[in-house]
Amino acid sequence: YHSNLTDTKSSDSHKTKKLPNAIIIGVKKCGTRALLEFLRVHPDVRATGPEPHFFDKHYEEGLEWYRQKMPLSNDAQITIEKTPSYFVTKEVARRVLNMSKDVKLIVVVRDPVTRAISDYAQVASKRKDLKPFEAMAFVDNSTTVVDTTWTVIKIGVYSKHMQKWLRYFPLEQFHFVSGENLIANPGEELEKVQQFLGLSTVVTNKNFVFNGSRGFPCIKKNLKSKRVHCLDGTKGRKHPHVNPIAIKRLRDFYRPFNAKFYQMVGKDFHWL
Ligand code: A3P
Repeated sequence: YHSNLTDTKSSDSHKTKKLPNAIIIGVKKCGTRALLEFLRVHPDVRATGPEPHFFDKHYEEGLEWYRQKMPLSNDAQITIEKTPSYFVTKEVARRVLNMSKDVKLIVVVRDPVTRAISDYAQVASKRKDLKPFEAMAFVDNSTTVVDTTWTVIKIGVYSKHMQKWLRYFPLEQFHFVSGENLIANPGEELEKVQQFLGLSTVVTNKNFVFNGSRGFPCIKKNLKSKRVHCLDGTKGRKHPHVNPIAIKRLRDFYRPFNAKFYQMVGKDFHWL
C-alpha cells in the first residue's frame, strides 16, 4: 500500500509550466539554435525543444496552449523559447507585449549577405531544381537591381524589422548577439546573455571546444566529462559559391540598412 506522499517525487512537485521569461525572436540562420542549445546547459534555464511558433502561426490557440508547450520548471529557473520568424512577422511584437511587457527579447544577428546565402542553402537542400542564388537575388538576370521582394533578402533588412519592435518594447529589453562572435568566441557571447538574463555565469569559454573538421564550436555540457555535443548536420551547411560581383552589390544594398540598425540598437557589428 503506497501513500500519495511516497509516490510523488518532492523535486517534481514544485515544478510547473510557465510562460517564457525570455524569447529568442530571431534572426533565422543567424545562430539561434546554437544559442538556445548552449544556454540550456545552465541549470537555471529551461527551454523548449521545437520552435513553438505561437505568436505567428498558433496565436488563435491561446496563451494556455502556449504555456502547455513550455517545459516544467522550478521557481529558480527561467523559461526560454526560440522562434526566429517572430522577428520578421508583423503582428508578433504587439502580441508578445500583450502577453508580457517585461519579457526579455534576444536577437541573434549576422551579416545579412551571409545570412541570405545560408537561408538559400537551406531551401536548396530541400529542392533540387532551385535556380542559382544570383538568379533569385536580382531582377532581370542582372547583378544590379536587388530583388527586394524575395523573403531571403527582406529578412536581412534588420533595421526595418527592429523599428517595428521598438514601437512596442524599449531598447533595454533587447539583447543582441553577434552571430559571427557566437562562432568565434561563444563563451564571451554566452556570458553576456547570462548577464542580460540575470543568471549566474555558468556557461563560459571552458565549456567550448572548437571542432576543426566541422568548423564550429561544440559544447561540453559537463566540465568533468570528456563528452562534447555538436549541433546536427543541418547547422553549418556548405554554402554555394556566389559570384563576387553579386556579393559586392548585395553588400552595397545592405550597407545603409546595417548602419541604421547599428544606430538603432547602439552597437556596431562590423559587417562589410
Ligand atoms: P550555416 O548553416 O549557414 O553555417 P539558425 O540556428 O538560426 O538556423 O542558424 C544556423 C547557423 O548557426 C549556421 O548557419 C551556423 O553558421 C550558425 N552556428 C553558430 N554557431 C554554431 C555552432 N556551434 N554549430 C553549428 N552552427 C553554428
